[in-house]
Amino acid sequence: MTTLVKTWTYAKKRLEAAGIDSPTIDARILLVCALNIGRNDLITDPYREVARADIDKLNEFLARRELREPVAHIVGKKGFWNLELLCDARALVPRPETEVIVDYVLKSSPESAQTVLDLGTGTGAILLALLAERPNWTGLGIDISSEALDLARENAKMHSLSERAHFQIGNWAENITEKFNIVTSNPPYIPTNIIATLDKDVREYDPHQALDGGADGLEPYHILFAQLPNLLKPNGKFAFEFGIGQANAIMAIAKSSNHFANLAIIKDLADKERVIIGQLAEK
Ligand SMILES: C[S@@+](CC[C@H](N)C(=O)[O-])C[C@H]1O[C@@H](n2cnc3c(N)ncnc32)[C@H](O)[C@@H]1O
Repeated sequence: MTTLVKTWTYAKKRLEAAGIDSPTIDARILLVCALNIGRNDLITDPYREVARADIDKLNEFLARRELREPVAHIVGKKGFWNLELLCDARALVPRPETEVIVDYVLKSSPESAQTVLDLGTGTGAILLALLAERPNWTGLGIDISSEALDLARENAKMHSLSERAHFQIGNWAENITEKFNIVTSNPPYIPTNIIATLDKDVREYDPHQALDGGADGLEPYHILFAQLPNLLKPNGKFAFEFGIGQANAIMAIAKSSNHFANLAIIKDLADKERVIIGQLAEK
């Protein structure tokens, strides 16, 4: 017979031996999903007996993680802000640093009706997190990937947000004529030649078009900042994520257009410069 706590230790050790970066957390998530238990059961009922069939399921999950399949793909979901989102190969797995955008927009915007445009929406993470917090807001998510949009729509439906969150295929804001109170984006920002050097979990599992920001990683920002003045209502605000070390270059692109006021960079919880914010300047 084996217990919950022994099984967790076994899973941690297997992932540690395989060189996985976060063996304790990964083992916990895989265990909770394989055994279909509550997160607290590990603490409140550690000596519960684990059935053979559950161990078999966990072993299958561990084998996949050892081959570097992301935990979110194995269990089919990932927590983002206050939501659990469906995740699979159709879109980038949402990352915790992107929550900086959600935090900033919620803190800086009124609760009254606002319209949000999320460019490169992927799973719909940013847009859905915002609308779930603000019942009076509505929004549009754009992506170039129809597969990502299918997943975003499934996530919207799961959280009863389909009435307020719409999704549309597009090349950034090319066909958008409407103006919005808030524009968000976490575009691809990895320089093309760096992608092959990323961890296997990322380079082989996140969609290439969710990662590739062109030769210098900045190509999407030139397009986004060029389109932005036509997308924002008067006083409208934006928040765009970028990669480590890109802050100065992104700020230079934003400043070069003369259309924006109150430009600033905000940091993520790891103290890395992560998001550029600003507003449409008054004329
Ligand atoms: C880094 S992912 C971000 C996904 C999601 N917003 C998030 O934060 O988890 C970038 C997204 O931009 C989309 N994308 C890439 N090029 C695009 C383009 N030209 N027009 C619209 N979306 C694009 C990708 O398909 C991908 O879903």
